Amino acid sequence: MLYFFIIAIALVKNAKIDVNLTIGLDFQDNSYMEFFNNFSSHYSEFKENGLNLNIAQHLLPCYSCNTRHQFQKSEKNCLGGGRYCQYSDYVSGQIILKELLFQQCVLDVLPQHYFNYTIYFGKQCKKSTMVDCSKNYFKNNNITTDPIDECVMNSFNQQDVQEDIKTNKILDKYKDMQYNQTFYSLYLDSQDLSKSPYNEFLQQLCQKFVNASLQSCGQSVNIETSSNQKDNNKTPTNQKENNSLEQVFLFIFALIILILMASGGWTLLNKIQFGSRQAPKSRITIPKLEGDHIIQEDDI
Ligand SMILES: *[C@@H]1O[C@H](CO)[C@@H](O)[C@H](O)[C@H]1NC(C)=O
Ligand SMILES: *[C@@H]1O[C@H](CO)[C@@H](O)[C@H](O)[C@H]1NC(C)=O
Ligand SMILES: *[C@@H]1O[C@H](CO)[C@@H](O)[C@H](O)[C@H]1NC(C)=O
Ligand SMILES: *[C@@H]1O[C@H](CO)[C@@H](O)[C@H](O)[C@H]1NC(C)=O
Ligand SMILES: *[C@@H]1O[C@H](CO)[C@@H](O)[C@H](O)[C@H]1NC(C)=O
Ligand SMILES: *[C@@H]1O[C@H](CO)[C@@H](O)[C@H](O)[C@H]1NC(C)=O
Repeated sequence: MLYFFIIAIALVKNAKIDVNLTIGLDFQDNSYMEFFNNFSSHYSEFKENGLNLNIAQHLLPCYSCNTRHQFQKSEKNCLGGGRYCQYSDYVSGQIILKELLFQQCVLDVLPQHYFNYTIYFGKQCKKSTMVDCSKNYFKNNNITTDPIDECVMNSFNQQDVQEDIKTNKILDKYKDMQYNQTFYSLYLDSQDLSKSPYNEFLQQLCQKFVNASLQSCGQSVNIETSSNQKDNNKTPTNQKENNSLEQVFLFIFALIILILMASGGWTLLNKIQFGSRQAPKSRITIPKLEGDHIIQEDDI
């Protein structure tokens, strides 16, 4: 019995795919557009299967803001009193920074619109009418921006009083990522694929999702085989057969677990769960709460 549980647990852990795609961007640069155009139709499927998309925006530093006023005065091209800055000839840096926040919130709140919106923005909106132009995308698609605006608002530290010296958690994250390049770049986990053609990128990505049998990847296999003189037309169907076989195995394991549980394996399962959740681990994660609790009890 134990043997089956161990295998089943191992399988469940294997099924969890954790892949990070990190895109570095610079506001003045539009070289991200081709990749975005290609990837926009594939993103949703990968996301549903465990892809984490991280954006890193290149922010400009204001060294003197710290020495002059310790980030306590407003700066035209900065937020956070100079902690985060942007610059362009046609709009203020503050407007650009607010747009970057808006884009991050689109990704967080309406991820299915992130690529379409940023493509639209890159094509249409990098000019003096930036804010109105941005709104048009949402008007055209009948989408309310309220949840996005709320996300932007909540990203500012509510304790600071003056609007443009408030610290901001999204911009702090960008700052920590230290993306200092002025061109777009693309990392799949720690692998730099910035210079790879889209087909190659998709292949690499699909390798990480090889057990998920994705539609996006089926297409890439087709493209690959047709360019390889059509002699390998069997590969896509073989892959599908493998995957359905796997699913049958998973189903059988699930059945076995259900049967074992019904036949008194319940206590065993409980033991295993407690065994893997080791006591010291929970102490490490909530030491403060535990400490507070003890102090309160002592006081009483
Ligand atoms: C993905 O990123 C998260 C958080 O940054 C990290 O915990 C995780 O280990 C990363 N996964 C991989 C496969 O690199
Ligand atoms: C990527 O997009 C370009 C146009 O933006 C297109 O010509 C090219 O075929 C696309 N590549 C793939 C693999 O879809
Ligand atoms: C994004 O744009 C593509 C192509 O224009 C379209 O097919 C798709 O439905 C759009 N996605 C959303 C969420 O609007
Ligand atoms: C948006 O709503 C208006 C009226 O409410 C409708 O005429 C229009 O077709 C809608 N557009 C989309 C893209 O759904
Ligand atoms: C990126 O730029 C910031 C500020 O300009 C600097 O503090 C940091 O060291 C740079 N990081 C790297 C990796 O170059
Ligand atoms: C896919 O599944 C096979 C067997 O089920 C396993 O050996 C392999 O490591 C899995 N690949 C990935 C990328 O998880």
